[in-house]
Amino acid sequence: MRVERLRLTDFRNYAHLDLTLPGGLIVFTGRNAQGKSNILEAVTLAATSRSFRTTNERELVRWGAEGHFARVEVTAERRRDQVQVEVVVSDNAPLVATGAGALPQPPVSLPRKRIRVNGVARRSMDLIGQITVVIFSPSDLDLVIGSPGERRRFLDLTLCQVHPSYCRTLSQYQKVLLQRGALLRRIRDGEETPQALNFWDEQLTTLAAPIMRERAMFLEQASEAAARVYAALAHDEGDEDEDDENTERDENDQDASENDQVRNSGAQTVPDQQHQLQLVYRPSYDGDISGGMADVIAGMRARLGELRRREIAQGANVLGPHRDDLAFLAGGIDLSIYGSRGQQRSVALALKLAELDYIEHETGDQPILLLDDVLSELDTQRRIDLLQAVRPLDQVLLTTTDAASLPSETLAYAHRYRVRNGGVIEARA
Ligand SMILES: Nc1ncnc2c1ncn2[C@@H]1O[C@H](COP(=O)(O)OP(=O)(O)OP(=O)(O)O)[C@@H](O)[C@H]1O
Ligand SMILES: [Mg+2]
Repeated sequence: MRVERLRLTDFRNYAHLDLTLPGGLIVFTGRNAQGKSNILEAVTLAATSRSFRTTNERELVRWGAEGHFARVEVTAERRRDQVQVEVVVSDNAPLVATGAGALPQPPVSLPRKRIRVNGVARRSMDLIGQITVVIFSPSDLDLVIGSPGERRRFLDLTLCQVHPSYCRTLSQYQKVLLQRGALLRRIRDGEETPQALNFWDEQLTTLAAPIMRERAMFLEQASEAAARVYAALAHDEGDEDEDDENTERDENDQDASENDQVRNSGAQTVPDQQHQLQLVYRPSYDGDISGGMADVIAGMRARLGELRRREIAQGANVLGPHRDDLAFLAGGIDLSIYGSRGQQRSVALALKLAELDYIEHETGDQPILLLDDVLSELDTQRRIDLLQAVRPLDQVLLTTTDAASLPSETLAYAHRYRVRNGGVIEARA
């Protein structure tokens, strides 16, 4: 799918923007702080009802906006139809009377966030999945090196975009966790008997099983695509110090000099498979989750029985998808710990492109890929490889401060836009 038209009103540093976009690679160039990332943020808001940068949605409303709200309208072309999404966020400004500078009163009836899909009011949960996006920005390195919570958020956001039932189950699960946690603390304090847990154990396991199952299936499916992308991005690893000429000679010349053999022996003796990226699901429940749902639930309940004393002592839920993690292995090595920064960045990118593949496979529509400021973090070869990998996609919105960081071949087919101080103009090469 692709964004066909984007309209902004008082969103971040845009008072008004009305932009019609083609498919393919769209490159937004401009100096720092001009509004490039704001455009990608607006698109993610229309897709997920959330900003990828902030949880404080007041920030989205342009400073001094008279209406105290920001509006994002996106018309997206999907494979089979078109969809129009409107998200309005209000800053709920308090009524401050500061003499001459008194701010106008915000419309009383306006809720904090209002969503319309094709003109009909919807809840956030019903918006998700209408327009799908995959966003990659430098902070996504945290997917690899950050806390397990970052990885769970990634899993949840991906699966919610695809399976509304996953989202519903997850939100019920979170409520159960709260209730069960409170109960565990009451039991610890002698205000309740442990028998009261039986009901909540059943609730927890019944909801946990499908969540774990979906996560496992996603990772199994995404593993192949992630490995493919990672291999494409890391193909020159081990030859880091070589220039192209040398690399070519090493490959073609069986009688490479002794020195070269010594220098490259590490890379040459490592079988290809050892470089292959594997996404490994690490659920906190270590029993078998591949069997029937009833078996998983039963197994997990038995495990909860074994953990009961500990859970009561800690006053916390210690087993379940809220404690899951995800590992990135290559040749048995955990790249979150031992990978170089460049490798970790490649893992994060591979994961995101695998997410795109998965969403397309599951929904039949390809998400829009948003690449915020990622080129500056990659070496020249990885830049070329990445741009090559995303070339066939329906639409890619990419921001960069420096158009020269794009290979000239890419610039030849890219659609370029200049962003300057809350304005966007199409740039003719
Ligand atoms: N609510 C707001 N009202 C007005 N301006 C805002 C608001 N929020 C952010 N801005 C401004 O928007 C500008 C930044 O926009 P954005 O993050 O899109 O920049 P950018 O072009 O991506 O820059 P960089 O290259 O540094 O990433 C900043 O000047 C910031 O002060
Ligand atoms: Mg930016």
